[in-house]
Amino acid sequence: LHQVPLFKHLSDDQLTRLSEICSRKGFKAGTVLFREKEPGDVFYIIVSGSVKVFTSNSGGEEKILSVFQAGDNFGELSLIDGKPRSASAQVLEDSMFLTLRGSDFIQLLRALPDMSLTIMQELCRRIRETNDHVYDLTFVDARTRVLKNLIIFANRNGIRSGNTIQIRIALNYDELARMAGVTKSVLMEVVRDLERIHILNATPQGFSLDLSKLRSGGA
Ligand code: CMP
Repeated sequence: LHQVPLFKHLSDDQLTRLSEICSRKGFKAGTVLFREKEPGDVFYIIVSGSVKVFTSNSGGEEKILSVFQAGDNFGELSLIDGKPRSASAQVLEDSMFLTLRGSDFIQLLRALPDMSLTIMQELCRRIRETNDHVYDLTFVDARTRVLKNLIIFANRNGIRSGNTIQIRIALNYDELARMAGVTKSVLMEVVRDLERIHILNATPQGFSLDLSKLRSGGA
């Protein structure tokens, strides 16, 4: 538990008490943890793996709001404001979670100001990220949006060697397009275009990005 960023301020005593109310659960890739508009009663912390949070229209088309990975938490909104789930959550790869019952989560927020502050800071980060995304969708062209999304993944979990960054992405092309707010055909077009000028190279795990080409203004 002491490795979970949300609990970094807790004493050994508090961590021991926390371990009594946390459950450890594993879910297979593809499992839907909850759907938008359902009542919320569980808070999730990812120990390993990743999850996509998305909203969808009546035709089943998805817009991915965020991808969470190890150390991240989600499911707090409906527990805090008592309203239904604001989005759906689906496991992208076999993943392990710590879960807390809603009532226990609220009790912790009341008892632990440092933990409440960490949750508030995370909410601030998400509003800023959402504002950036609204800006991009309004003012930025599709090609730049795709590149910006790849750079976000590169910053979060890219492995750098020299001028190249290997980006591991648990999303398929459909999902990546939905995250960048472009159609799959636009995404494929942008990827092919960037491959042609050797900025990007699609790999089985994701992409590799050549920083020297990016800096020289090739994109
Ligand atoms: P909740 O509404 O309980 O269930 C869906 C969860 O997805 C929500 O809590 C947040 O944890 C998360 N979520 C919803 N919207 C966003 C967003 N725009 N950015 C990041 N996470 C979100």
